[in-house]
Amino acid sequence: MNTSTLAIESLDLKTASDAELALVHHLFSKMRAERQPDDPPIPFEENLARWRSQPPFIQLTFYGVWNPNHTALIGRGTVVTVSLEENRRLAQVELEVLPEYRRQGLGKRLLGLLAEVAEREGRSLMLIGTHGRIPAGEAFMERVGGHKGLEGHTNQLDLRDLDRDLLQRWLDQAASLADDFELGLWEGEYPESQLEEIAALYEVMNSQPRGTLQTEDFHFTPEQVRQLQQQILVTGADHWTLYVRDRATGALAGFTDVAWNPSRPELLSQGNTGVFPQYRHRGLGRWLKAAMLDKVMRERPPVRFVRTHNADSNAAMLRINHELGFKPYSSSAMWQVETARALDYARTMR
Ligand SMILES: CC(C)(COP(=O)(O)OP(=O)(O)OC[C@H]1O[C@@H](n2cnc3c(N)ncnc32)[C@H](O)[C@@H]1OP(=O)(O)O)[C@@H](O)C(=O)NCCC(=O)NCCS
Repeated sequence: MNTSTLAIESLDLKTASDAELALVHHLFSKMRAERQPDDPPIPFEENLARWRSQPPFIQLTFYGVWNPNHTALIGRGTVVTVSLEENRRLAQVELEVLPEYRRQGLGKRLLGLLAEVAEREGRSLMLIGTHGRIPAGEAFMERVGGHKGLEGHTNQLDLRDLDRDLLQRWLDQAASLADDFELGLWEGEYPESQLEEIAALYEVMNSQPRGTLQTEDFHFTPEQVRQLQQQILVTGADHWTLYVRDRATGALAGFTDVAWNPSRPELLSQGNTGVFPQYRHRGLGRWLKAAMLDKVMRERPPVRFVRTHNADSNAAMLRINHELGFKPYSSSAMWQVETARALDYARTMR
């Protein structure tokens, strides 16, 4: 097929019609099934809600590749830029093409368009993720001249394999911590009055390994933290955050959060877990993880698998996760490529 004549058009996901977004959803679902064949599909309403409620400080440019009859999307590319003081040279890029349309130049065309967006917005470095189950992504990034900056795994705990005695031991050991630290919970929307300290708590995530990625710390305002949380809540998910607070100073020392969507009742996603450096090596990380698992098992009995993503170099987090029985489920990598280099490649003749 001569794919060079296929139309690639931009679409504003915030304002597109339901019918257009249904086509986008269809493509997303097919690509997700390739990456995660065991998982149930995400319902249309969830994707729709997320696309319609993109936080204003996050700009998303979407390009869709149309099939020859212009009736379905067969590929897409997305550039995300975040308006913060820092990381002003970064553009986060995703691109994917359905398997039957690969190796015909569509990825290259998409990359060219995405790199032009990045260039226009003054973003000189593109970050692009690849998934271990789809080797074509890595081959493509090698060809483009990208560099792998951070490798990671989604690690999974099958709750049927969880050592309940170990969990109880960790909870018992934490009893001695309770003199110095309070364990607390935010369930659903973060309380408005605490948003400022919650934004400060999120800073702890800047201490996770970044490999050789040329990224800077991210600093979110309280309002941005609220908007990021809304992205989870609008999909109908439960969002729980357990935190520990230093009783002496009142300062927050660490947290862990999970999201659970009733449409995929067996799966629970554990997002962030972090303890500030000055509070490490006292068992707070183990306490947070154990207390969350305990709560999940008591209050969400359908959950069978807990998934979390960790950098392969994150020894501290991996140690706790391995002790609990998390096992590698799938691998992924974050690549970086200079926008100028991507443009040069995209402009070479086939
Ligand atoms: C990555 C992806 C978008 C590439 O799309 P594509 O339409 O097949 O890419 P193209 O045909 O334009 O190929 C561009 C170059 O990459 C090379 N390439 C692509 N897939 C390759 C593979 N599996 N093995 C070796 N080289 C490959 C092509 O040979 C081509 O090189 P050339 O410029 O010398 O001719 C597609 O494989 C995909 O959707 N993968 C799943 C999603 C994914 O991994 N996304 C991560 C983004 S990198």
